[in-house]
Amino acid sequence: MGGPLVSRLCFVAVLLLLRASCLGSLANAKRTPPPPPKPAVKKPPPSPSLPPPPPPPSPPPSQIPVPSPAPAYPSLPVRAVCLGGWLVTEGWILPPLFDGIPNKDLLDGTQVQFKSALRKTYITADQGGGGAVVANRTQASDWETFKLWRVNETAFNFRASGNQFLGIGASDGIIVATATSPSLPETFQIIRCPFDKNRVRIKAANGYLVQAIATGEVIADYGEPTRWSDWDASVFLMAKVGQQMQGEYQLCNGYGADKAAPVLRDHWNTYIVEDDFKFIASSGLTAVRIPVGWWIASDPNPPAPYVGGSLQALDNAFKWAEKYKLGVIIDLHAAPGSQNPWEHSSSRDGTQEWGTTDANIAQTVQVIDFLASRYATSPSLFAVELLNEPLAPRATLDSLMRYYRDGYDAVRKHSPTAYVVMSNRLSSGNTTELLRFAGGLQGAVIDVHYYTVFNKMFDNFTVQQNIDFIRSNFSGELATVTTQNGPLTFVGEWVAEWKVPNATKEEYQKYAMAQMNVYGQATFGWSYWTVKNANNHWDLEWMIKNGYINLKG
Ligand SMILES: *[C@@H]1O[C@H](CO)[C@@H](O)[C@H](O)[C@H]1NC(C)=O
Ligand SMILES: *[C@@H]1O[C@H](CO)[C@@H](O)[C@H](O)[C@H]1NC(C)=O
Ligand SMILES: *[C@@H]1O[C@H](CO)[C@@H](O)[C@H](O)[C@H]1NC(C)=O
Ligand SMILES: *[C@@H]1O[C@H](CO)[C@@H](O)[C@H](O)[C@H]1NC(C)=O
Ligand SMILES: *[C@@H]1O[C@H](CO)[C@@H](O)[C@H](O)[C@H]1NC(C)=O
Ligand SMILES: *[C@@H]1O[C@H](CO)[C@@H](O)[C@H](O)[C@H]1NC(C)=O
Repeated sequence: MGGPLVSRLCFVAVLLLLRASCLGSLANAKRTPPPPPKPAVKKPPPSPSLPPPPPPPSPPPSQIPVPSPAPAYPSLPVRAVCLGGWLVTEGWILPPLFDGIPNKDLLDGTQVQFKSALRKTYITADQGGGGAVVANRTQASDWETFKLWRVNETAFNFRASGNQFLGIGASDGIIVATATSPSLPETFQIIRCPFDKNRVRIKAANGYLVQAIATGEVIADYGEPTRWSDWDASVFLMAKVGQQMQGEYQLCNGYGADKAAPVLRDHWNTYIVEDDFKFIASSGLTAVRIPVGWWIASDPNPPAPYVGGSLQALDNAFKWAEKYKLGVIIDLHAAPGSQNPWEHSSSRDGTQEWGTTDANIAQTVQVIDFLASRYATSPSLFAVELLNEPLAPRATLDSLMRYYRDGYDAVRKHSPTAYVVMSNRLSSGNTTELLRFAGGLQGAVIDVHYYTVFNKMFDNFTVQQNIDFIRSNFSGELATVTTQNGPLTFVGEWVAEWKVPNATKEEYQKYAMAQMNVYGQATFGWSYWTVKNANNHWDLEWMIKNGYINLKG
């Protein structure tokens, strides 16, 4: 073994002695981050070049499993940037994308409550659904909260907390919550008051307006509206609760296919262009991690509401990566059924269904097979990440390992050299749960994400406390997954952003530097989230151009 490897292993051993346990939800998923203050940085540490041992495909003890030969470039560890918000939409990264959607505050997954203006009671799916809908409570909680499924700009289905849909169940117009999938009887129009958008009427499929009657029942039998006053029994006060989801599903279904196609085509062609790849390469970065959605595999005719064209953009990315000698890490960020409840997995309404059936896993493997097959001959295909941020416990370890095994084989079928990245489960409580499994697969990489912005625990941390936490805790976490015989490790997402109010440029520089020093110990490398962002510190191009981060010093 070469010198750098020995010293790395010593470093790992020391950290292992220091002992670390799991971070679980600390290293949490990205959601909508608040935008804050300013700062700067320097270069990340170089690191160990790994020997190319050709061990058999079974668990190779005492050898670091690297495919032999490794991809042509870049060398390990990579310093990469995530092209977030490009081929998988996240509204907070580029809010204007949603501007052209009519009723854009009523998208799929938006949570609403309806309070009768006359009776001051809320529409309630009693027991969360499965039976009657009533209006006899004056406080709103889960049973009074409905997730929207958008049919068009004015028509919606209302999904109760037990997952059934509200609908007119009988000819008398009584509203029930019994349907497990929505059709016409479960479709309602929301009619908004012209001078107060949250004062609404709800028109059912029988043509009548919904009202709450004195006995507490909710019935679509109200014919003629009067005025928008509280005395009209068909008037409801609509409150939106929780955070609005703004992912690919919301965008495409919000515009509708006809309008979404040109909006997205324009976005794909202009948001990330060849000049970005040129800039990335000239900045000292060596790879890009590109989030994609499962629908890319059925381009140009993906299932509704998705629209075709993202595959052409990925083709372009490979062309530019080859020109500037950048590695590409394809990252399946949104899997069919959604592997977590967030917008970035393109969940329709916050439900997480990925991995719950064999057919779903097989469909996901097909997506990987498609991508690996298409790009296997590109010298820039550096790695395929099988799945981003599956969330425990809904994504079970068992289904995930079955998928990772099949997904790994699908990559290997086409490429002997591409690394295969496997994201740790979020909130599993055991950051080492995949190590033995992945350690038996040549060229496997474990992905861990470190953020201090998504956990309350960091709310009042000072600059120094944040930096100390990176140096002790995240460093210790990384050391527990970076093992001698195990898979390579990748800090596939991090950002120089925190909750420190009004930090200075110098403080940001120190923070970014501290992270690069720690994440530089990851044997596969790291990747910044993201390359462009409406929030400056989340925008690596901005950070580099403004001297907050310097990768060439
Ligand atoms: C990191 O912090 C979390 C939360 O305080 C803790 O549970 C975990 O053990 C720490 N890990 C290390 C390696 O210090
Ligand atoms: C509301 O109606 C439901 C269903 O009829 C009933 O079970 C519940 O006790 C009622 N709640 C109140 C506060 O009256
Ligand atoms: C929306 O859908 C509803 C129910 O299917 C239909 O009655 C209405 O005409 C549609 N509105 C628009 C603008 O397409
Ligand atoms: C974590 O998971 C691994 C693999 O299943 C297991 O061997 C180990 O005991 C687990 N550790 C903890 C702390 O549960
Ligand atoms: C942070 O400080 C605020 C104001 O002092 C306090 O209300 C809050 O509970 C603190 N948060 C945490 C997580 O300690
Ligand atoms: C941060 O700066 C803003 C704007 O200058 C100011 O209003 C705010 O009080 C500052 N916050 C802290 C915690 O210093």
